[in-house]
Amino acid sequence: MQKQLGVLIHGAGWVSGEHTKAFQHNSNTRVVAISSRKMESVKKRAAEAGLKDIGMYTDLDEALRHPGVDIVSVCTPQHLHADNTIRAARAGKHVVIEKPVANSVDEMRAMLEAVRKAGVKTIVSFVLRWNPLFDTLKAMIADDAFGQVYYVETDYQHDIAGWWSGFEDGRKKSTGVSALNVGGCHAVDAARWFAGRGRYQPAKITEVFAYCGGYRKGLIREFHYPTDTWVENVPPMEYDGLEVVLLKFDTGAIGKVSVNFDCVMPYTFPIQIFGDKGSVKDNRVWSHKFPGQKGWVEIPTILPVTADVSHHPFQGQMDHFVDCILNNRESHCNLEDSINTHEVVFAAQQCYETKRPIQLPLR
Ligand SMILES: NC(=O)c1ccc[n+]([C@@H]2O[C@H](COP(=O)([O-])OP(=O)(O)OC[C@H]3O[C@@H](n4cnc5c(N)ncnc54)[C@H](OP(=O)(O)O)[C@@H]3O)[C@@H](O)[C@H]2O)c1
Repeated sequence: MQKQLGVLIHGAGWVSGEHTKAFQHNSNTRVVAISSRKMESVKKRAAEAGLKDIGMYTDLDEALRHPGVDIVSVCTPQHLHADNTIRAARAGKHVVIEKPVANSVDEMRAMLEAVRKAGVKTIVSFVLRWNPLFDTLKAMIADDAFGQVYYVETDYQHDIAGWWSGFEDGRKKSTGVSALNVGGCHAVDAARWFAGRGRYQPAKITEVFAYCGGYRKGLIREFHYPTDTWVENVPPMEYDGLEVVLLKFDTGAIGKVSVNFDCVMPYTFPIQIFGDKGSVKDNRVWSHKFPGQKGWVEIPTILPVTADVSHHPFQGQMDHFVDCILNNRESHCNLEDSINTHEVVFAAQQCYETKRPIQLPLR
């Protein structure tokens, strides 16, 4: 039997529980260490996962020296992702990077340089690419079910607020940057995924124009959708909760994505795809492949209907990554691919200043 790859989970919070489970369930990997800011959190994560005799650390460099670490899962808050990824790559480890990968273009460049120099593999947690509806639609696109896709719309509509363990970092401009960076990057990635022609090929975005708005920036009152209550005297969100972005793709298609943290409702992730031979509205499709179609065909599958990380297909993502490492191939969802998605975040910021469309790649 092949030697199991050792995994270090770094940042023992909400999403790390699902990363840990996914690696535990992959027969080619073994979680050998956990590190975080607080030892209490490390111990809690280990106990919840039933992991004994593993390394436990509060220092990343020490954790990276733990015997047998091949993969590092970076599950810390986003302002630490660049530093953590660079340190892991320099130590020769393959890296799972939670989204968003970075808080600036400079950080992304430094990460890419470190990863290329070290020759390690990466995957970015745009986990929705493994959601069954996403996978089915992508297979149908590659099979010409909708013809040439000319328009895509995806929206990340999620009342991000104090109910989220990461909100204290996420709400601030200095550590969160913007709603697009914190959550909307999922919608940008989805638009690229559906505009791309091949089975596992995302399109590239070549131009961006954006507006921001909404009502929540600076408010000390917020809605908590998990409890359907309003909460008073809370630390405010420091950026606009609504961003709407128009996109041009290298395929000739155009698109619109939005992120809405100001919505008073549970999480939704609407998808619309229009091609010259068919259309998609979430899991309802119309296609030239169904001659004589009289109504929408509904695909009975799992939709992106909740932000609960236990619903997210991390197993598919990690299995794919392990397969890439074992077979020495790059993931379609690696750091290099994610640069185009994240550049939209920073291009949108430039639009708010210049009021002009921004070309990608950013200089
Ligand atoms: N792909 C997805 O769908 C998805 C879903 C959810 C979250 N995420 C992303 O995952 C990342 C983490 O989010 P989360 O929801 O898990 O947040 P979280 O619950 O706040 O967890 C982050 C953990 O990082 C640790 N940490 C903070 N500062 C640290 C430091 N300086 N050194 C080491 N560890 C540190 C904290 O550990 P201590 O407890 O030790 O202080 C905290 O528990 C974010 O980027 C988020 O956007 C992605």
